This record gives sequence, structure tokens and C-alpha cells, in this order.
Amino acid sequence: MNIEHYILSRVNIETKLIFSAHSFAGITKVNIMTEEVSRRDFVKMAGAAIGGIALGAVGGYSLVSGKETIIIQEVPLEVPEHPWIYTKIDPEAAAKRSYEAFFQGGCAYGVFEGIIGELREQVGHPYTAIPTKLAVFGKGGVVGWGTLCGVLNGAGMAINTVTNNLGLVNEVMGYYSNTAFPIYEPEVATKVEGELTKSVSGSPLCHASVTQWCGASGFEENSPERAERCGRIVADITKKTVEMLNDLADENFVAAYAVPDSVIGCNSCHGPDGALNNVMSKMDCDSCHTDQHTN
Ligand code: HEC
Ligand code: HEC
Repeated sequence: MNIEHYILSRVNIETKLIFSAHSFAGITKVNIMTEEVSRRDFVKMAGAAIGGIALGAVGGYSLVSGKETIIIQEVPLEVPEHPWIYTKIDPEAAAKRSYEAFFQGGCAYGVFEGIIGELREQVGHPYTAIPTKLAVFGKGGVVGWGTLCGVLNGAGMAINTVTNNLGLVNEVMGYYSNTAFPIYEPEVATKVEGELTKSVSGSPLCHASVTQWCGASGFEENSPERAERCGRIVADITKKTVEMLNDLADENFVAAYAVPDSVIGCNSCHGPDGALNNVMSKMDCDSCHTDQHTN
């Protein structure tokens, strides 16, 4: 074989290795056919190629004979159309990654980096092209406003990167609202070891979630326990999101979330099919509107 093709997974360039056998006794010559010869990555690559072993191992085939001239060509890879192809990843690995990322850039970044970071490592291009820090804005329900919990912002962005099936976003919103968190138990906790009080938010809002947990646990918002709790929820939502994406990849995804009775009842008049048609929400109406009117 004279021509091999190898896509380097960690940079967004296609690296073509062209072997012409028996030119030399031993891998001694490396021609880098590129306009950007000076790129450090490339010089390193070339070094690895001379060594033979490292590149052979990564590429999945060996440069055994040691009698080739290696010509390396650098070609920019195209960014594919949205949505990008998803490859199943390990929910536990993504959860761990996201738990750690939370302490670097907050909840929205935690989930987004947990999932996209895992894809970046497993798949490489095009996931290498996403600067996941773009999700930092979502922390504290968007820079501390207490609106949409950042884990849902991060999960929604990750889901919508790889699929147009927004049913998964709906599902994670519902799962978040209905489930007692935190569940995740880190091997080594960052802030506080041991089990933490669980609470159900009944709402996708950061404010409702945090304040109800403070009430249930007795800890202050500004406590290490609260930070630990949010870090673990980041892992929980990442795990759930990856499980759903993996199910979708297996054509096994089934939506399970059912909207609360209040949404069905109140929206029969206030929702888009009702006479008043003045409300757009799937949040539990009762979580804010306590005095029920009887019109
Ligand atoms: C049978 C129809 C119907 C249902 C069901 C219904 N509403 Fe209403 N709602 C009305 C009407 C009619 C008004 C008055 C609208 C106006 O004055 O413009 C109203 C007004 C309101 C208002 C404005 C303040 C007020 O009390 O007048 C709120 C808030 C409200 N509804 C919330 C809810 C919630 C929450 C639910 C479910 C628990 C609900 N509604 C169920 C018909 C309904
Ligand atoms: C996160 C809290 C929250 C949730 C959940 C919520 N609302 Fe509201 N709603 C508000 C706020 C805040 C307003 C504006 C202030 C007000 O009028 O009470 C409002 C206003 C309204 C009004 C208009 C009141 C008026 O004065 O005319 C209606 C009708 C209403 N909501 C219905 C609903 C229905 C139906 C649901 C469930 C699908 C719902 N709301 C869910 C907070 C909420």
C-alpha cells in the first residue's frame, strides 16, 4: 500500500500520510508538504513519525517496515452541517468530567463540557472546534439571575448540538423538575464529603431549586455544601442526558415525562388551545400561582 489516510483526532486538520515504501532504509526522512510548516503540532507529529511507534499506535496500523518516506500534508477539515454525528459515550465518564468542570466554570459549563468534552476526546473533530467555555454565562440561572438552571442550559446546548430531537430537552427539563437531587456520589468530593440532603425543585428555575434546597437542608446559599450540591446535580443531569442520547443513538429513546395536572387544567383556558390563549408555559402553574381562581 502506498497511500494511507489518517485523521488526527485532536486537531481540526486532516493529516494525510503518504508512504512510499522502500525509499530508504529506515524511517529517516520526513517531508512536510504544508503551507504551515512551522506549526508546533506538526513538527511534533513529524517527530512521532520518525519514531514510528507513537504514530503507528495512534493510527491503528503500524509503520512496521521502517522503510518509508513519510509525506505529511495538512488540509483544513470542513465543519459539518448541524446536527453533528453523535457517537455513544460513557455516562459515568461524562458525569465525572462534568462534576470536575463545574468547579472550573459553573453549572452550565459543567454539563456542556462533560458531554462535549467526552465527545472531543472520543471522536475528535468536529468536537475539537467547540470552545465549551461559551456556556459559562449560564451559571446561577444565567449569571446569578436564578432563571433557567444552568444544567438545563448546558444539557440543551449539548443535545441540540447532536440532534434536532427537542423531545430530549423537554425530557431533561421534566426530569430535573421532578427528581430529588443530588444523587451523584463523587469518588472524591471537591467541597464536602458524604451524603447531602435531597430536594425536588418542582421547577426548572435555579432560584426555586436552590432556595428549596436551602430550606430543606438548612445550609446557606453561599455555603460549600450548596456548591457541592450543585456540582453533583451537574453530574446527575449529564449522566441522564448522555443516557438519553445513547438511547436515541440506539433508536430506543422513549419520552416518559408527563406535564403536571395544573398545566393541563390551567392551560385549557390560558394555553394556546384555550379561550384566553395568553400563557406559554409548561412549568407547574401551582408552583407560583397559589390562589386558584374559579372562573
Ligand atoms: C375555565 C377557564 C380557566 C381556567 C381553567 C383557569 N383560568 Fe385563570 N382566568 C380565567 C379567566 C376567564 C380569567 C380572567 C381573565 C381576564 O380578566 O382577562 C383568568 C385570570 C387568571 C389570572 C389573572 C389574575 C386573576 O386571578 O384574575 C391568573 C393569574 C390566572 N387566571 C391563573 C390561572 C391558573 C394558575 C390556573 C390553573 C390553576 C387558571 N388560571 C385556570 C379562566 C381560567
Ligand atoms: C415561575 C413562576 C410562575 C409560574 C410557574 C407560572 N406563572 Fe403565571 N405568572 C407569574 C408571574 C410572575 C406573573 C406576572 C405577575 C402576575 O400577574 O402575577 C404571571 C402572570 C400570569 C397570568 C396573568 C395574570 C394577570 O394579571 O393577567 C396568568 C393568566 C398566568 N400567569 C397563568 C399561568 C399559568 C396557566 C401557568 C402554568 C402553565 C403559570 N402562570 C405558571 C409567575 C408564574
